[in-house]
Amino acid sequence: MRLVIRNGTVLTSTGALSADVVVEGEQVTALAARDSGLTDAWQQNADRVLDATGKYVLPGGIDVHTHMEMPFGGTESHDTFETGTRAAAWGGTTTIIDFAVQTKGTSLLSTLDKWHAKADGNCAIDYGFHMIVSDVNDTTLKEMDACVEAGVNSFKMFMAYPGVLYSTDGEIVQAMYRAAGNGAMIMMHAENGIAIDQLVAQALANGRTEPLQHGITRPPELEGEATHRAIRLAGVTGAPLYIVHLSASQALDAVTAARDEGRNVFAETCPQYLYLSLEDLGRPGFEGAKYVCSPPLRPAEHQRDLWRGLRTNDLSIVATDHCPFCFKDQKELGRDDFSKIPNGLPGVEHRMDLIHQGVVAGELSLARWVEVTSTTPARMFGLYPRKGTIAPGSDADIVVYDPQARQTLSAATHHMNVDYSVYEGMEITGRVETVLSRGRVVLEGGEFHGSRGHGRFLERELCQYLS
Ligand code: URP
Ligand code: ZN
Ligand code: ZN
Ligand code: ZN
Repeated sequence: MRLVIRNGTVLTSTGALSADVVVEGEQVTALAARDSGLTDAWQQNADRVLDATGKYVLPGGIDVHTHMEMPFGGTESHDTFETGTRAAAWGGTTTIIDFAVQTKGTSLLSTLDKWHAKADGNCAIDYGFHMIVSDVNDTTLKEMDACVEAGVNSFKMFMAYPGVLYSTDGEIVQAMYRAAGNGAMIMMHAENGIAIDQLVAQALANGRTEPLQHGITRPPELEGEATHRAIRLAGVTGAPLYIVHLSASQALDAVTAARDEGRNVFAETCPQYLYLSLEDLGRPGFEGAKYVCSPPLRPAEHQRDLWRGLRTNDLSIVATDHCPFCFKDQKELGRDDFSKIPNGLPGVEHRMDLIHQGVVAGELSLARWVEVTSTTPARMFGLYPRKGTIAPGSDADIVVYDPQARQTLSAATHHMNVDYSVYEGMEITGRVETVLSRGRVVLEGGEFHGSRGHGRFLERELCQYLS
């Protein structure tokens, strides 16, 4: 099968090119400058020609932070690997890296088996795993090496959620030493959970049970403090560190300082922190519950700093932290106590559009859009150049994007398996038109043509940024 994408503007992290793209089987085999005349010959024996006049042709998005069917707070995130990866494809994301979750008393390898059983044969796009470590002991530490061998070389730890996923500084140090030895990345949920639990207890004791309290009891200072502490622990142990879902200026300051020191410290932010704010948590009635995630949404002034961080590369990646819970039967669990609202927001479908909106608003360049949503995720998590670019030899994970189209985000039209949208009514300039996953057209003409089971598990190489 030979497919040629003609007349588009090919975007990569280095810029834009008027070029045609040749796809054979699952891979890109050639790129030809528009006026080279080379494409005519290829086109003659092509099975299909896609006309991309006026469109961008960019590498498929890579969302390195999703939680499909994740157990949390007595319930489970509402997208399965099937529904969640389908929604991702609708939004131009062709690879996800999801989190396998070790529960206390279980082993990492049995956890990995469990997550393979959930995902294998069910995904519409390619996928990999990170491992959440919640029980640090001798077996766990040894198993970290086995996970790396199995292509799962990034380990998320929690300074939040005492009694559930939380690790002490001592446990973090042990895992960090192991990562320093085996080349893995430590990913950190950096919020001071011990202090937060006190603030939560005080709020509840004062009869403050409404969703806004979720944000008030998790102040930005406690994200800044934990981020700084994680960076220092990483420095002592020599482990590379990746701060997940960074939301606060104080945390960004700590990352910036570490990067200015030349350290292997990286961070991601998420669209919800760029577009939503603490005000959303304070919506009347129980509406605010729709916006409960951790770290919480911040006062709007943090957004300016996050966009700047994306420009300066102190924030290297935009991922979604997609973790959807239905408003009706799941967020409801915390109606009388905000601390029982399952934490997480839906978003896997809208990341490419929302960050393109940053291009429209003049916050980011086109090349940076591609870099933070695809190229850097691929390099950071050992998938480049198979993923994250359009070049001969790369997987043909390609998005044809119409930068002029207009759309309105809504739960009525989204494809995520959740009954509300945090972006309800938001107007977007730009729209995903066609999506290829390893050479197969999975989205075209407003219809999904992919299938469950097309997605393959990705054994990842080590991070490509470590000095
Ligand atoms: O609120 C969130 N972020 N839920 C998902 C779990 C996590 O901490 O990433
Ligand atoms: Zn987290
Ligand atoms: Zn998460
Ligand atoms: Zn439900």
